[in-house]
This record gives sequence, structure tokens and C-alpha cells, in this order.
Amino acid sequence: MKLLLLLLCLGLTLVCGHAEEASSERRNLDVDKLNGDWFSIVVASDKREKIEENSSMRVFMQHIDVLENSLGFKYCIKENGMCRELYRVAYKTPKDGQYFVEYDGGNTFTINKQDYDRYLILRIVSYKNRETFQVMSLYGRTKDLSSDIKEKFAKLCEAHGITRDNIIDLTKTDRCLQARG
Ligand SMILES: *[C@@H]1O[C@H](CO)[C@@H](O)[C@H](O)[C@H]1NC(C)=O
Repeated sequence: MKLLLLLLCLGLTLVCGHAEEASSERRNLDVDKLNGDWFSIVVASDKREKIEENSSMRVFMQHIDVLENSLGFKYCIKENGMCRELYRVAYKTPKDGQYFVEYDGGNTFTINKQDYDRYLILRIVSYKNRETFQVMSLYGRTKDLSSDIKEKFAKLCEAHGITRDNIIDLTKTDRCLQARG
């Protein structure tokens, strides 16, 4: 019984600690600073086929427009080896720091960590055909980021249950950079 209580307490501490960390990350979100050009640097998912070549969630970010209560995303994906440019608007949900966008199903995302001058981390929960999976994305203001930031991102992915072999460094692949205007 004592052991059970101890385990329960431990579990609650972990859950609460996590939630606190997540909310403090979002508290200082100043969306205006997200505006402008971005590059996809690393992508991760607990459903790897969604971020593999020619897949919908292997997104190559180009630009974010900060709009009223929404964010406009201009990005490319590769379909059958061809770069295709897309634009989607994500709307604020009643939940603080959360947005919703329809793209290959429904997606809610939060902006987990930001250092607007250099990088941005999104955590997306995607729903399609009653199936749910996560995608985490690291965007940079520059074409590449330091290994420190990539490592920070990888640790955050692991904290959300995404293993290292499901983390793909896109800087070594074709990111449709030639399609940027
Ligand atoms: C992506 O599509 C291209 C063109 O159809 C093909 O050559 C390539 O093998 C595809 N990649 C994967 C991983 O299926």
C-alpha cells in the first residue's frame, strides 16, 4: 500500500511538473515575433511514415504571417518527388497558446519553445480517421541551426515519447529551397 501511494505521488509530480513547464513556456509567447521567413530544420513524429519522403507532414516552412487571431503558413511539401507550394491558416483555439489548422485531417498545435530570432518549436497533434499522432517541428530563421539547439529539440521530442530514430534532420535532404520566392 505504501509503495502504491509512493508511486502514485511520483506519477502526479511528474505529470504536474510537466504541465507547469509547458505552460511557462507558452506564457511569454509574443506571436508578432513569429512573423517572417523560416526554414524547416528537423522534423519528428511517433508515426514515421507521415514525415518520410513524399509524405504530408514532411513540411518545408517558408513564411509565417501573423494575422488577427490566426497564423498564415506558407510552405512546400514534396509529392511524388515534386515540390508543391501550399498556404494554410491556423486559428487560435480557446486554449491559451493553441491553434487549429485543417491539413490532411485536423491538427492542433502549440508553440513549445521559442527564441524568435533563431528558432521555433511546434508540437502538433494530428487527427485523421480516428487516429491520432504527434509531429514536432524545429524551424530556424537560418538554413541550419547549431547542434545544441538540435539536441535541445531531440530531448523535447523524447520527453513527448518520440524516439531518436523518428527524428529526421532535413538539412541533409531536399527541402524545396529552389521553390522559395
Ligand atoms: C518520392 O517520389 C519520387 C517520385 O515518384 C520517387 O522517386 C521516390 O522514390 C519517392 N520516395 C519515397 C521514399 O518513396
